Amino acid sequence: RRSGDLAGRRVIVTAGGTQEPIDPVRYVGNHSSGKMGYAIATEARDRGADVVLVTGPVSLPAPYGVDLIRVETASQMRDAVMATVHDADALVMSAAVADFRPAHPSPQKIKKHAGEHLAITPPGQQGQATPDADTSGGGFSIHLVRNPDILAELASLQAAQPRSNAGEQPRPRRLVRVGFAAETENVISNARDKLVRKRLDLLVANDVMRSDSGFGADTNKVYFFHADGSMEDLPVMPKAGVAAAIWDRVISLLA
Ligand code: PMT
Repeated sequence: RRSGDLAGRRVIVTAGGTQEPIDPVRYVGNHSSGKMGYAIATEARDRGADVVLVTGPVSLPAPYGVDLIRVETASQMRDAVMATVHDADALVMSAAVADFRPAHPSPQKIKKHAGEHLAITPPGQQGQATPDADTSGGGFSIHLVRNPDILAELASLQAAQPRSNAGEQPRPRRLVRVGFAAETENVISNARDKLVRKRLDLLVANDVMRSDSGFGADTNKVYFFHADGSMEDLPVMPKAGVAAAIWDRVISLLA
């Protein structure tokens, strides 16, 4: 690691979890604290990069010297990434983006005497209508629809970019794309699958079942999966250490 080895680079980091509104006071969310993403952004800043940090709602202080964009939903995070990515050298997506959102958020607080049956539509059945008023359980239904997949969208954009020949416009800068995988089982096979599906340069898989790793923890236990099929097994370390190791790998990819 060298200080200043990201000087002149523009990087985008996403952090925290998205919140998908159910009604004005409730949301579908997750346990991301933002610690991993904020450590990645801070490390990049310390190494000289121009940093855009796209963050879901978290309780961490805004890092000094970083361009902060606050968002709540996956759609807003997608728009913020798309608006800033064109001249970036690297994107590190450590945010826990909700895969689904309520299809029809209620404009008013849902009352508990609504009298419908509570059911979250399982993946694979989205798009299929759920019974709107199954009163058998005395609950209510939330119909979830799929959110945009930010990394997958970028992968297809990059693949669609034409290669320039002499005399044409210069080819846009190649964007190094780093994704995370939060797995609770089959960490290695699920991570390899995500690396290929989202056409990533690097996938960081964290073990979210350990108390010293993943959501909310100050340390993390990660595996790196590289596009060439190789894997690295890193020891448990502070999230700042994981951040430094990520930027070391990104710098090699940028060289
Ligand atoms: O914030 P902390 O408390 O420090 O916790 C850190 C963390 C556990 C949240 C972080 O290390 C982590 O694993 N983040 C990714 C969690 C996640 O959503 O993983 P996933 O397997 O669902 O998504 C895979 C990748 O695709 C991620 O890079 C994600 O940002 C991206 N994604 C996911 C869904 C979506 N709609 N668009 C995306 O781009």
